[in-house]
Amino acid sequence: MKPLELSCIAGVWNTSLGLLNENLEGVGSDLQLWFPWGGIWRGRDLDGSLPPTDFPDDLIKPGVSRFGGRFWKAFAVNGTSWLISVRAPKSATPEMENWELPEKALESIKMLADFVRLECLLGLTMKILENQSRENAGHWDRVRHFSVAIGFELGLSQREIADLEMAALLHDIGKVGLPEELLEMAGPLDEEERKKIEAHSLIGSAMIREIPGMEMVAEIVLGHHEAIDGSGYPSGLKLEEIPYGSLIIAVADSFDAMTHYRPYATERTYLESFVEMKSEKGKFAPEVLTALERVLKNLGILDSKPLVGTSEDW
Ligand SMILES: [Fe+2]
Repeated sequence: MKPLELSCIAGVWNTSLGLLNENLEGVGSDLQLWFPWGGIWRGRDLDGSLPPTDFPDDLIKPGVSRFGGRFWKAFAVNGTSWLISVRAPKSATPEMENWELPEKALESIKMLADFVRLECLLGLTMKILENQSRENAGHWDRVRHFSVAIGFELGLSQREIADLEMAALLHDIGKVGLPEELLEMAGPLDEEERKKIEAHSLIGSAMIREIPGMEMVAEIVLGHHEAIDGSGYPSGLKLEEIPYGSLIIAVADSFDAMTHYRPYATERTYLESFVEMKSEKGKFAPEVLTALERVLKNLGILDSKPLVGTSEDW
Protein backbone atom coordinates (compact mmCIF):
# COMPACT_ATOMS: atom_id res chain seq x y z
CA MET A 1 0.00 0.00 0.00
CA LYS A 2 1.46 3.37 -0.97
CA PRO A 3 1.86 6.00 1.77
CA LEU A 4 -1.17 8.09 2.59
CA GLU A 5 -0.67 11.71 1.57
CA LEU A 6 -3.31 14.04 2.96
CA SER A 7 -4.20 16.85 0.56
CA CYS A 8 -5.09 19.07 3.50
CA ILE A 9 -1.51 19.26 4.80
CA ALA A 10 -0.01 20.37 1.48
CA GLY A 11 -0.31 23.98 2.71
CA VAL A 12 1.73 23.22 5.85
CA TRP A 13 4.47 21.65 3.72
CA ASN A 14 4.50 24.66 1.42
CA THR A 15 4.83 27.07 4.35
CA SER A 16 7.86 25.20 5.72
CA LEU A 17 9.48 24.81 2.31
CA GLY A 18 8.76 28.47 1.48
CA LEU A 19 10.44 29.70 4.69
CA LEU A 20 13.49 27.50 4.09
CA ASN A 21 13.72 28.47 0.44
CA GLU A 22 13.71 32.17 1.30
CA ASN A 23 16.50 31.61 3.77
CA LEU A 24 18.62 29.47 1.48
CA GLU A 25 18.51 31.92 -1.42
CA GLY A 26 21.98 32.40 -2.79
CA VAL A 27 23.30 29.30 -0.99
CA GLY A 28 21.63 26.49 -2.96
CA SER A 29 18.65 25.68 -5.15
CA ASP A 30 16.12 22.85 -5.72
CA LEU A 31 15.29 22.55 -2.01
CA GLN A 32 14.01 19.22 -0.61
CA LEU A 33 12.78 18.33 2.88
CA TRP A 34 12.69 14.68 4.05
CA PHE A 35 11.40 12.71 7.03
CA PRO A 36 11.95 9.05 8.05
CA TRP A 37 9.13 6.61 7.29
CA GLY A 38 9.65 2.98 8.21
CA GLY A 39 13.10 2.06 6.92
CA ILE A 40 13.07 4.68 4.15
CA TRP A 41 12.61 8.46 3.68
CA ARG A 42 9.67 10.45 2.37
CA GLY A 43 10.08 13.99 1.15
CA ARG A 44 8.77 16.94 -0.80
CA ASP A 45 10.02 19.86 -2.81
CA LEU A 46 8.10 22.96 -3.83
CA ASP A 47 6.43 21.03 -6.69
CA GLY A 48 5.04 18.21 -4.51
CA SER A 49 6.01 14.83 -3.11
CA LEU A 50 9.18 12.97 -4.08
CA PRO A 51 9.48 9.18 -4.50
CA PRO A 52 10.25 7.43 -1.15
CA THR A 53 14.01 6.81 -1.06
CA ASP A 54 16.70 4.91 0.83
CA PHE A 55 19.56 7.23 1.87
CA PRO A 56 23.01 6.27 3.23
CA ASP A 57 23.05 6.26 7.04
CA ASP A 58 25.91 8.75 7.24
CA LEU A 59 23.67 11.55 5.92
CA ILE A 60 22.12 11.65 9.37
CA LYS A 61 25.03 13.07 11.29
CA PRO A 62 25.78 16.49 12.76
CA GLY A 63 27.03 19.06 10.25
CA VAL A 64 26.70 19.08 6.50
CA SER A 65 27.03 16.03 4.21
CA ARG A 66 27.58 15.82 0.48
CA PHE A 67 25.72 13.20 -1.61
CA GLY A 68 24.44 13.10 -5.21
CA GLY A 69 25.65 16.62 -6.06
CA ARG A 70 23.67 18.04 -3.13
CA PHE A 71 24.24 19.26 0.40
CA TRP A 72 22.37 17.52 3.21
CA LYS A 73 21.77 18.82 6.69
CA ALA A 74 20.13 16.70 9.39
CA PHE A 75 18.29 18.29 12.30
CA ALA A 76 16.13 16.94 15.11
CA VAL A 77 12.41 17.65 15.52
CA ASN A 78 10.98 16.25 18.74
CA GLY A 79 13.64 13.53 18.77
CA THR A 80 13.29 12.56 15.08
CA SER A 81 15.87 13.36 12.40
CA TRP A 82 14.72 15.35 9.39
CA LEU A 83 16.83 16.21 6.33
CA ILE A 84 17.12 19.43 4.37
CA SER A 85 18.80 19.13 1.00
CA VAL A 86 19.83 21.68 -1.65
CA ARG A 87 21.68 21.45 -4.92
CA ALA A 88 24.88 23.53 -4.90
CA PRO A 89 28.49 23.19 -6.11
CA LYS A 90 31.06 21.78 -3.72
CA SER A 91 32.60 25.26 -3.52
CA ALA A 92 29.55 26.35 -1.50
CA THR A 93 30.67 24.16 1.43
CA PRO A 94 31.64 27.11 3.73
CA GLU A 95 28.25 28.83 3.18
CA MET A 96 26.40 25.57 3.84
CA GLU A 97 28.44 24.90 6.96
CA ASN A 98 27.67 28.37 8.31
CA TRP A 99 23.98 28.16 7.44
CA GLU A 100 21.70 27.84 10.46
CA LEU A 101 18.14 26.66 10.44
CA PRO A 102 16.10 29.83 11.15
CA GLU A 103 13.88 29.73 14.26
CA LYS A 104 10.73 30.56 12.26
CA ALA A 105 11.36 27.67 9.85
CA LEU A 106 12.08 25.27 12.74
CA GLU A 107 8.76 26.20 14.38
CA SER A 108 6.97 25.60 11.09
CA ILE A 109 8.68 22.21 10.63
CA LYS A 110 7.69 21.23 14.20
CA MET A 111 4.06 21.87 13.25
CA LEU A 112 4.58 19.96 10.00
CA ALA A 113 6.04 17.02 11.98
CA ASP A 114 2.83 16.87 14.06
CA PHE A 115 0.71 16.79 10.89
CA VAL A 116 2.95 14.15 9.35
CA ARG A 117 2.52 12.02 12.48
CA LEU A 118 -1.26 12.35 12.14
CA GLU A 119 -0.98 11.43 8.45
CA CYS A 120 1.08 8.32 9.27
CA LEU A 121 -1.36 7.27 12.01
CA LEU A 122 -4.27 7.67 9.61
CA GLY A 123 -2.34 5.69 7.00
CA LEU A 124 -1.89 2.91 9.54
CA THR A 125 -5.61 3.00 10.37
CA MET A 126 -6.44 2.70 6.68
CA LYS A 127 -4.11 -0.26 6.32
CA ILE A 128 -5.81 -2.04 9.23
CA LEU A 129 -9.27 -1.23 7.88
CA GLU A 130 -8.40 -2.43 4.40
CA ASN A 131 -7.10 -5.72 5.81
CA GLN A 132 -10.11 -6.19 8.05
CA SER A 133 -13.03 -5.06 5.95
CA ARG A 134 -14.42 -6.54 2.76
CA GLU A 135 -13.79 -3.34 0.80
CA ASN A 136 -11.90 -3.36 -2.49
CA ALA A 137 -8.28 -2.28 -2.32
CA GLY A 138 -8.03 1.47 -2.70
CA HIS A 139 -11.71 2.22 -1.95
CA TRP A 140 -10.89 4.68 0.86
CA ASP A 141 -8.28 6.44 -1.22
CA ARG A 142 -10.51 6.85 -4.27
CA VAL A 143 -13.45 8.12 -2.18
CA ARG A 144 -11.05 10.58 -0.52
CA HIS A 145 -9.58 11.82 -3.81
CA PHE A 146 -12.98 12.33 -5.42
CA SER A 147 -14.44 13.95 -2.28
CA VAL A 148 -11.55 16.42 -2.00
CA ALA A 149 -11.66 17.19 -5.73
CA ILE A 150 -15.43 17.85 -5.51
CA GLY A 151 -14.86 19.95 -2.36
CA PHE A 152 -12.31 22.15 -4.17
CA GLU A 153 -14.65 22.41 -7.15
CA LEU A 154 -17.42 23.65 -4.82
CA GLY A 155 -15.08 26.22 -3.25
CA LEU A 156 -14.89 24.77 0.30
CA SER A 157 -12.47 26.43 2.75
CA GLN A 158 -9.18 24.77 3.82
CA ARG A 159 -10.76 23.76 7.14
CA GLU A 160 -13.81 22.28 5.39
CA ILE A 161 -11.55 20.37 3.00
CA ALA A 162 -9.56 18.99 5.96
CA ASP A 163 -12.75 17.76 7.71
CA LEU A 164 -14.06 16.34 4.44
CA GLU A 165 -10.82 14.51 3.71
CA MET A 166 -10.70 12.87 7.17
CA ALA A 167 -14.39 11.94 6.96
CA ALA A 168 -13.94 10.47 3.47
CA LEU A 169 -11.12 8.26 4.75
CA LEU A 170 -12.99 7.21 7.87
CA HIS A 171 -16.58 7.08 6.55
CA ASP A 172 -16.96 3.31 6.97
CA ILE A 173 -14.81 2.88 10.09
CA GLY A 174 -17.97 1.78 11.96
CA LYS A 175 -17.88 -1.46 9.95
CA VAL A 176 -15.14 -2.72 12.29
CA GLY A 177 -17.94 -3.16 14.84
CA LEU A 178 -19.91 -5.51 12.55
CA PRO A 179 -19.55 -9.30 12.42
CA GLU A 180 -17.51 -10.64 9.51
CA GLU A 181 -20.33 -12.92 8.26
CA LEU A 182 -22.56 -9.89 7.84
CA LEU A 183 -19.98 -7.98 5.81
CA GLU A 184 -19.44 -11.01 3.57
CA MET A 185 -23.13 -11.60 2.81
CA ALA A 186 -23.83 -11.20 -0.88
CA GLY A 187 -27.57 -11.89 -1.08
CA PRO A 188 -30.51 -9.71 -0.03
CA LEU A 189 -30.50 -8.82 3.66
CA ASP A 190 -33.42 -9.37 6.05
CA GLU A 191 -34.71 -6.51 8.21
CA GLU A 192 -32.47 -7.28 11.19
CA GLU A 193 -29.33 -7.69 9.05
CA ARG A 194 -30.08 -4.46 7.24
CA LYS A 195 -30.44 -2.59 10.53
CA LYS A 196 -27.11 -3.97 11.74
CA ILE A 197 -25.33 -2.87 8.55
CA GLU A 198 -26.96 0.55 8.74
CA ALA A 199 -25.63 0.98 12.28
CA HIS A 200 -22.12 1.49 10.86
CA SER A 201 -22.80 5.23 10.34
CA LEU A 202 -23.74 5.60 14.02
CA ILE A 203 -20.89 3.43 15.32
CA GLY A 204 -18.27 5.21 13.17
CA SER A 205 -19.54 8.63 14.10
CA ALA A 206 -19.51 7.79 17.84
CA MET A 207 -15.92 6.51 17.56
CA ILE A 208 -14.70 9.67 15.83
CA ARG A 209 -16.61 12.05 18.13
CA GLU A 210 -14.34 11.01 21.01
CA ILE A 211 -11.37 12.73 19.32
CA PRO A 212 -11.17 16.45 20.24
CA GLY A 213 -11.59 18.71 17.21
CA MET A 214 -13.14 15.94 15.08
CA GLU A 215 -16.79 16.80 15.88
CA MET A 216 -17.52 17.97 12.33
CA VAL A 217 -15.84 14.86 10.89
CA ALA A 218 -18.14 12.76 13.11
CA GLU A 219 -21.20 14.68 11.83
CA ILE A 220 -20.18 14.11 8.21
CA VAL A 221 -19.61 10.38 8.80
CA LEU A 222 -23.00 10.11 10.54
CA GLY A 223 -24.78 11.50 7.48
CA HIS A 224 -22.94 9.74 4.64
CA HIS A 225 -25.90 7.42 3.84
CA GLU A 226 -28.61 10.08 4.06
CA ALA A 227 -30.50 10.87 0.82
CA ILE A 228 -31.80 14.31 -0.17
CA ASP A 229 -35.46 13.12 -0.30
CA GLY A 230 -35.29 11.80 3.27
CA SER A 231 -35.15 8.11 2.29
CA GLY A 232 -31.62 7.54 3.63
CA TYR A 233 -30.35 6.45 7.05
CA PRO A 234 -29.85 6.66 10.02
CA SER A 235 -32.08 9.75 10.52
CA GLY A 236 -33.96 10.22 7.23
CA LEU A 237 -32.69 13.80 6.93
CA LYS A 238 -33.60 15.96 3.94
CA LEU A 239 -31.27 17.98 1.67
CA GLU A 240 -30.91 21.13 3.81
CA GLU A 241 -30.49 19.11 7.03
CA ILE A 242 -27.64 16.92 5.72
CA PRO A 243 -24.08 18.21 6.34
CA TYR A 244 -22.49 19.39 3.08
CA GLY A 245 -19.55 17.01 3.53
CA SER A 246 -21.95 14.05 3.84
CA LEU A 247 -23.62 15.01 0.53
CA ILE A 248 -20.19 15.01 -1.13
CA ILE A 249 -19.07 11.67 0.36
CA ALA A 250 -22.42 10.07 -0.60
CA VAL A 251 -21.71 10.93 -4.23
CA ALA A 252 -18.02 9.92 -4.15
CA ASP A 253 -18.81 6.65 -2.32
CA SER A 254 -21.60 5.63 -4.70
CA PHE A 255 -19.56 6.65 -7.72
CA ASP A 256 -16.73 4.40 -6.54
CA ALA A 257 -19.21 1.55 -6.01
CA MET A 258 -20.58 2.05 -9.55
CA THR A 259 -17.16 2.15 -11.14
CA HIS A 260 -15.36 -0.52 -9.12
CA TYR A 261 -17.74 -2.93 -7.38
CA ARG A 262 -20.40 -3.84 -9.91
CA PRO A 263 -19.80 -6.90 -12.13
CA TYR A 264 -19.95 -4.67 -15.22
CA ALA A 265 -17.81 -1.89 -13.69
CA THR A 266 -14.85 -2.33 -16.03
CA GLU A 267 -17.10 -2.54 -19.09
CA ARG A 268 -18.50 0.94 -18.70
CA THR A 269 -16.97 4.39 -18.99
CA TYR A 270 -17.02 6.78 -16.05
CA LEU A 271 -19.61 8.79 -17.98
CA GLU A 272 -22.00 5.80 -18.28
CA SER A 273 -21.81 5.19 -14.50
CA PHE A 274 -22.27 8.90 -13.85
CA VAL A 275 -25.40 9.03 -16.05
CA GLU A 276 -26.88 6.10 -14.10
CA MET A 277 -26.21 7.91 -10.80
CA LYS A 278 -27.83 11.06 -12.15
CA SER A 279 -30.98 9.10 -13.01
CA GLU A 280 -31.46 8.04 -9.37
CA LYS A 281 -33.78 10.90 -8.43
CA GLY A 282 -33.95 12.01 -4.81
CA LYS A 283 -30.69 10.43 -3.72
CA PHE A 284 -27.87 12.85 -4.45
CA ALA A 285 -27.49 16.66 -4.26
CA PRO A 286 -27.63 17.97 -7.88
CA GLU A 287 -24.96 20.59 -7.12
CA VAL A 288 -22.54 17.86 -5.98
CA LEU A 289 -23.27 15.73 -9.07
CA THR A 290 -22.53 18.71 -11.29
CA ALA A 291 -19.24 19.25 -9.43
CA LEU A 292 -18.32 15.57 -9.92
CA GLU A 293 -19.00 15.91 -13.65
CA ARG A 294 -16.64 18.91 -13.77
CA VAL A 295 -13.98 16.94 -11.85
CA LEU A 296 -14.21 14.04 -14.32
CA LYS A 297 -14.00 16.48 -17.24
CA ASN A 298 -10.99 18.26 -15.71
CA LEU A 299 -9.24 14.93 -15.17
CA GLY A 300 -10.03 13.99 -18.75
CA ILE A 301 -11.39 10.58 -17.72
CA LEU A 302 -15.09 11.00 -18.53
CA ASP A 303 -14.84 8.70 -21.56
CA SER A 304 -12.36 6.22 -20.10
CA LYS A 305 -13.01 2.96 -18.26
CA PRO A 306 -11.84 2.38 -14.67
CA LEU A 307 -8.93 0.05 -13.91
CA VAL A 308 -10.15 -2.17 -11.08
CA GLY A 309 -7.95 -3.22 -8.20
CA THR A 310 -5.57 -0.28 -7.80
CA SER A 311 -5.81 3.04 -6.06
CA GLU A 312 -3.84 4.77 -8.81
CA ASP A 313 -6.66 5.06 -11.31
CA TRP A 314 -9.00 7.53 -9.68
FE1 LIG B 1 -20.97 3.50 4.50
